[in-house]
Amino acid sequence: MTLPDRSTLSRREYARALVAVGGATALSACLDASSDGDENDDGSDVPPGTDDPDSLPARQHAWNEFAPRDDDGNVSPPAHHVLLPLALTERATADGEPTADARDITESTLRTLERAYEWSTDGLLFTLGYTPAYFERFDADLPETVDLPEPEALTSREDPAFDEFDALLHLASDRPEVVLEVEEGLFGEQEEPERNGVVLESDLADVFERVDENRRTGFVGEGLPAEHTDVSNVPDAVPEDAPFFMGFRSGFDRTQASEGRVTIDSGPFTDGTTQHVSSMDIQLEVWFEQENHYQRVSKMFSPEHAAAELVGEVGEELGTDSGLSDERIEATAADARQEGVVGHAQKAARGREDGEPRLLRRDFNTIDGDRPGLHFVSLQHEVEDFVRVREAMTGADLDVPSANNGILHYIFVNRRGNYLLPPRELRALPVANPDA
Ligand code: HEM
Repeated sequence: MTLPDRSTLSRREYARALVAVGGATALSACLDASSDGDENDDGSDVPPGTDDPDSLPARQHAWNEFAPRDDDGNVSPPAHHVLLPLALTERATADGEPTADARDITESTLRTLERAYEWSTDGLLFTLGYTPAYFERFDADLPETVDLPEPEALTSREDPAFDEFDALLHLASDRPEVVLEVEEGLFGEQEEPERNGVVLESDLADVFERVDENRRTGFVGEGLPAEHTDVSNVPDAVPEDAPFFMGFRSGFDRTQASEGRVTIDSGPFTDGTTQHVSSMDIQLEVWFEQENHYQRVSKMFSPEHAAAELVGEVGEELGTDSGLSDERIEATAADARQEGVVGHAQKAARGREDGEPRLLRRDFNTIDGDRPGLHFVSLQHEVEDFVRVREAMTGADLDVPSANNGILHYIFVNRRGNYLLPPRELRALPVANPDA
């Protein structure tokens, strides 16, 4: 493992690079770096968690209330993310199914995290989700109230690998040292790692092995993408203030499903949700070097957004929605024919149900593998909702050259995974049908 060169990077760049590397040495470097700076970044003032974890929300995905809002009132997602893939160990199972002991260790580990860190973007937010492959371990099927198919290729242009391990722990915080230290605390070799008086060490390593080759990391927020122009294939043209690599704000309040909309509302997994995770490369150089701003706005939002200058440089002219009227969404097919170009946002909005967005997107930028990409994390009531919206985004029905079909020409999906995020009460190694 090679640590990034401290002397050539700003403190923020350095911390982000350390999250990507992971491990004990990266953590101690990150703590050193965060304690030599201004007060807000001081690793020692991470707010403590709760004495009563049962007081936390029933939904693992209840994050929005615990995140700040931007000046327009949109949720500001946590800045730093780790997706930690996990496979059950043999000693945690009997006849393939997880044991009661494994379940107890998992639950007590998660409670330890909740005692150590405030449930917020300033502390730690996390979800633990399970794949269809995990639920195959049980004789019973998932209840009909849960739609969790095996992941599959969703477009003719992709040949993705699939997440077939058991579980995925999504760690998120505004503080890079928090996501690193949790991972290290749970799985590392450190002696008694501690935060806010709570010892983080647990026996989770008896229950799960990390699937390191599929570990994923990333970041989102104003200014963070532009800090990565040192990475190959990240052009200098990435705008200074953009929160995402492709140069625009995303995730407006009114283009996101509410947490309520994506929540399973009947059966034993009530208060759970489903999660789709796809990982993709972005051809950023082509996007920035062969396109001008007008074309980029047309392809990201709609041709009308470009002609009427609705967006601003990075989306600062937009408030709590993407400026898409119903007419503009309905005009997608006509724009394809008449303008020869359609926008990603306008196309994807065709997947709304009764005028409401179906997906709660929690995606973030990455430079895993030293190339720019996106880990697209999306929550929805049923995985079928994701599939429908993805179809709308693909726009196979549209009569438009592929290079002008939104952003499809620039993204390459490498992996897909589907997960059930059970309600908090059932988050520790649930059986497939708790009612059976
Ligand atoms: C690099 C990849 C991507 C980038 C840079 C990107 C960017 C954006 C932007 C800028 C918007 C408009 C702002 C907003 O509505 O929040 C948007 C909307 C949206 N995107 Fe993406 N996106 C990407 C991939 C995807 C993928 C893979 C999906 C999966 C289906 C998706 C689904 C959506 C949806 C559902 C909307 C909102 C549509 C509505 O208003 O109903 N995006 N995206």
